[in-house]
Amino acid sequence: MTGPAIRPRRLRSTAAIRTLVREHTLRPHDLVLPMFVREGIEDPRPISSMPGVLQHTEASLVTAAREAVANGVGGLMLFGVPERKDAVGSGATDPDGVLNRALARLREALGDDTVLMADLCLDEFTDHGHCGVLDARGRVDNDATLERYREMAVAQARAGAHLLGPSGMMDGQVTAIRDALDGDGHQDVAIYAYTAKYASAFFGPFREAVDSSLTGDRRTYQQDPANRREALRELELDLAEGADLVMVKPGMPYLDVLADVAAASPVPVGAYQVSGEYAMVEAAAANGWLDRERVILESLLSLRRAGADTVLTYWASEVAGWFRDGLPDHLHEYL
Ligand code: PBG
Repeated sequence: MTGPAIRPRRLRSTAAIRTLVREHTLRPHDLVLPMFVREGIEDPRPISSMPGVLQHTEASLVTAAREAVANGVGGLMLFGVPERKDAVGSGATDPDGVLNRALARLREALGDDTVLMADLCLDEFTDHGHCGVLDARGRVDNDATLERYREMAVAQARAGAHLLGPSGMMDGQVTAIRDALDGDGHQDVAIYAYTAKYASAFFGPFREAVDSSLTGDRRTYQQDPANRREALRELELDLAEGADLVMVKPGMPYLDVLADVAAASPVPVGAYQVSGEYAMVEAAAANGWLDRERVILESLLSLRRAGADTVLTYWASEVAGWFRDGLPDHLHEYL
């Protein structure tokens, strides 16, 4: 008996061979750091369901952003938490609103050294917590919301964002935003469309992060977690509307969707590793149930393997720093 002639294990026999045949890698600039800035606080505040993540003051935001960029992250995605909310989310379009002010501060501090992205959505700014404005019967009004998105896009571009990330899943949002940007002279500002975004329970900790006032759910605009094919329809529309990059969200529970979108997309594809994915790993690691560093890198690599060019992750700055400082030996399989 000589055993099998064909032996895949040959290519796994030394670390050097494994490195030679490794199909996918992770680099610091693949990672984008989502950040929260909150109005009316004196000191940064921890978010209990996202240990290690902060609601920043304007000043601490700039410091943390500089550090992330020095660590080598590819970009920053900014979310604002206003002090006052109303039915139409006025704070979102006010040039002096928390998000627009912070964007201006960051652009001033960092110039073109990083890619500054802004979440373009009303949910942090509305008192009912929905991503759009409501009609007389309390339903999210698609077309009235587009008018607000147009104004928000112009405000964010004027504040200095390089990339706008419409995350509200309204029909026609990319067309509306593109038109508004071009009409105000922002032909260079790109659109990073949240293309396939699901009505996911994995967003749970994010609601604490932005002090969300939502009582219902987002099932009339975000996608049904049971649907796969539908993501390709959203992709087709976003491309036709002029999206410059597209995103799948959440990440790990939707790797099939990510692989589909990556296979079909002619533009760069991102995956958003969301708050619940972060919280699960942090909670398990805090209990000593998982090897934190290895699980973080494996989870990020899995998104790259499924087809993500860039990954939005709350670990972006920390992980980028590991690469800068030199990875310990047992983590080299992720280089
Ligand atoms: C909407 C938005 C959400 C997230 C990013 N943009 C919340 C939602 O759709 O309910 C979630 C991100 C996360 O969970 O990390 N502005």
